[in-house]
Amino acid sequence: MVPILLPALEVYAEKHGSPESRLFRDLARVTRAKTACPQMQVGHLEGGFLRLMVKIARAKRVLEIGTFTGYSALAMAEGLPTGGRLITCDLDPVATRIARATWGKSPHGKKIELALGPALGTIRKLKGPFDLVFIDADKENYLRYWNLCVPKVRRGGVLLADNVLWSGRVLRPKDRTTRAIAAFNRFVASDRRVEAVMLTIRDGVTLAFKR
Ligand SMILES: C[S@@+](CC[C@H](N)C(=O)[O-])C[C@H]1O[C@@H](n2cnc3c(N)ncnc32)[C@H](O)[C@@H]1O
Repeated sequence: MVPILLPALEVYAEKHGSPESRLFRDLARVTRAKTACPQMQVGHLEGGFLRLMVKIARAKRVLEIGTFTGYSALAMAEGLPTGGRLITCDLDPVATRIARATWGKSPHGKKIELALGPALGTIRKLKGPFDLVFIDADKENYLRYWNLCVPKVRRGGVLLADNVLWSGRVLRPKDRTTRAIAAFNRFVASDRRVEAVMLTIRDGVTLAFKR
C-alpha cells in the first residue's frame, strides 16, 4: 500500500490521538511476523477512528466484512457497550486464529463472533438490523457487499468501506481490482439510500449515513 499522506504526517497523526494499547501493539507485531500482507491491518489511526465511530453512532450491533488478524474487530468491539455484539466474516482460518488468540486476551473479545466462510453467503444468512457495517474484504465484491448490507442497516445507521482510494490507483484504473473499487465509489456517490463522504484516512475510507 502506497501511503497517500506524507509518511511523517501519518506518524504525526498517529501520535496526536489516544495512544495504542499494548495488546494492539503486540497484535501489529505478531501480524508483521506471521502474515504475508501485514499492511492489510487497519492499524492504529484507522482503528481509533473505527472505535470512535462505533461509540459516536451508539452502535450495539456491528457487522464487519474482513477480519484478518482481528485488529479492526477488536477496536470496534472496544467501542461497543456491555452486551453489544460484533459479527465479523472471513474465510482465512490461519489469520483468524491470530485474531481469536488476541481477542481471548481482552474483556471485549467476548462481544465478537467470527463467521468463517465466504462473506457473501454469511451476509445473506444474517438478519438485520445492524447499527454499523465495516466493509474491508475482497475489493471485487465491494458493490455486492454494499447492496446486501444497505437494507440490513437501520435508518440512521452507518456504513464504512476501507481502501476506497487504493493507493491512488482509482485515479487511473488499469486492473480489475482498481476498476471494481472505482465502480463501487461511483455507485456510492449516487446511492440515494445514503449520504456519503470519502475521507482521506490511510488508504481512503468512505463513511455513509443510511437515510
Ligand atoms: C484487508 S483484510 C481485513 C483487515 C482487517 N479489517 C484488519 O484490520 O486487520 C481482508 C480480509 O478479507 C478476507 N477475505 C477475502 N475474500 C473474502 C471473502 N470472499 N469472504 C470473506 N473474507 C474474505 C481475507 O481473508 C482478509 O483476511
